[in-house]
Amino acid sequence: MRTVSTLAELRQARAELPEPLGLVPTMGFLHEGHLSLVRRAKTECASVGVSIFVNPTQFGPTEDLSAYPRDLDADLRLLSHAGTDLVWTPEVGEVYPAGYQTWIHVEEVGQPLEGARRPGHFRGVATVVAKLFNAFQPRRAYFGQKDAQQVVVVRRMAQDLDFPVEIVVCPTLREADGLAMSSRNAYLNPAERKAAGVLYRALTAAQDAFQRGARDAERLRAAMLEVLSQEPLARPVYMSAADPQTLQELTGPVEKALLSLAVQVGKPVLIDNLVIGDE
Ligand code: PAJ
Repeated sequence: MRTVSTLAELRQARAELPEPLGLVPTMGFLHEGHLSLVRRAKTECASVGVSIFVNPTQFGPTEDLSAYPRDLDADLRLLSHAGTDLVWTPEVGEVYPAGYQTWIHVEEVGQPLEGARRPGHFRGVATVVAKLFNAFQPRRAYFGQKDAQQVVVVRRMAQDLDFPVEIVVCPTLREADGLAMSSRNAYLNPAERKAAGVLYRALTAAQDAFQRGARDAERLRAAMLEVLSQEPLARPVYMSAADPQTLQELTGPVEKALLSLAVQVGKPVLIDNLVIGDE
């Protein structure tokens, strides 16, 4: 495994790798969820590249960028073990040099949900992912369903800007109690960690209601809120039943929906989702 930090080094090292290359963009502090993307890329591509970059432009002014967890040594060990060929760990100034002023704004699908909660977030995500596509020139790029709206935004961006990159979506990896693995879970104390299981319980309660015949979108959102309300350490930020493609909030009878929620547990806001009506 080669680890490089400048763009020039990356371009040179990448040119020597066999095609097709699969890219896994990350912000580091890697867990099994990230590694599942690397392993999937490994089975489908001749070489695998990973970026580790805590992208400052996707953090809002009230979000603590400097507190984002980091452990580069552990990350590199895990990536090497998972069969990664090339890792890019750029400095902020390498990605956004002085005078930087070009941004990618994906309009409609970037607005609701996380886009409403975190203004500017998807502008930062779309811009950095486009730059990573240019830097790595991957044939495929791997993303987790955990960040469902990110997948919709990145797909739209890649299609609209004619990137010849296939976007591959991988299932959410969960802890034993259903909590989606996330670097942000590191912020939870033991009581909060226990409480955080409520996100998945709320999602599966709505899914169960749907499977038992509850079709009304409002009823599905209420089913999630009902479960969340029973956990005193959980503060619901939003509960959504939205169209999986447009991300517009649904009303009335639902055939297929992206159920998603954001819940503050202690310091972090945790997010999770399930798609229902998919069969
Ligand atoms: P990060 O949060 O580090 O996540 C990197 C990738 O891992 C994303 O595609 C995310 O959806 C996926 N992932 C995270 N937790 C997962 C889980 N439990 N199961 C499966 N996949 C999971 O997402 C970002 O970084 C950034 O926004 C990035 C795309 C790198 C742009 O800066």
